[in-house]
Amino acid sequence: MTLNDLVFLPLVPGKTDFSNFDCGRNDINDFFLNDASDYQEELFGKTYVFVPEDTPTNIVAAFTVANASIFTKRLPNARKKKIGYEVHQSKGLINYPAVLLGRLGVDLRYQHAHLGPQIIDFVAQWFTSDDNKSGCRHLIVDAYNEPGLIDFYQRNGLKLFFSTEQQEREYRALDVNISEKLETRLMYRDLILLKRNSLRAK
Ligand SMILES: CC(C)(COP(=O)(O)OP(=O)(O)OC[C@H]1O[C@@H](n2cnc3c(N)ncnc32)[C@H](O)[C@@H]1OP(=O)(O)O)[C@@H](O)C(=O)NCCC(=O)NCCS
Repeated sequence: MTLNDLVFLPLVPGKTDFSNFDCGRNDINDFFLNDASDYQEELFGKTYVFVPEDTPTNIVAAFTVANASIFTKRLPNARKKKIGYEVHQSKGLINYPAVLLGRLGVDLRYQHAHLGPQIIDFVAQWFTSDDNKSGCRHLIVDAYNEPGLIDFYQRNGLKLFFSTEQQEREYRALDVNISEKLETRLMYRDLILLKRNSLRAK
């Protein structure tokens, strides 16, 4: 199965039913089931689902997106320069516009078939398409801090903002004296190549 075999729909509060959706992670299941509608009504993030055409109540995958930005002032110098270089090759902005892929889940019955990577590419293309209403240079995720998941995002073109958790603690204004593992790690993908390649293909 690929995304092309599925129908793409926005969440409709009071209608879209996540009660049969299980991506194997309780907090994400719980978010889609109980919070995604309110979150959307409050304009915090929009949720979308992929469903089979013949059984639209059977949610295969879901994700939530929200506007975001990369605030470069608190980034370590090396990362600031790298992002600035990737963007301008010389000067840097204080903020780079981005989209946050805040939640992503594929139902357990459909995992390991590369739908997750296709959704990442879909979101990246969507937010660089001509009809996107605002500028969006990067895709950001706040990934659970588990090696398998960080690898998954790295395989799909995302990079860690910070090479150490200590740097990330400082950026997030967390207590730097606490040595507990961070729950999540910020990652990003520059979308410009996608945009340039799509222009070349026209
Ligand atoms: C992460 C996710 C979206 C990937 O979707 P998918 O369609 O299964 O993607 P793929 O088919 O490319 O498989 C991803 C690979 O990464 C691995 N992977 C994903 N999450 C992992 C984790 N937490 N730990 C270890 N490995 C993990 C999978 O085992 C899989 O490898 P395999 O097929 O060789 O076994 C899906 O696993 C999922 O919904 N997980 C639960 C929710 C979640 O953690 N979302 C991310 C929030 S940051």
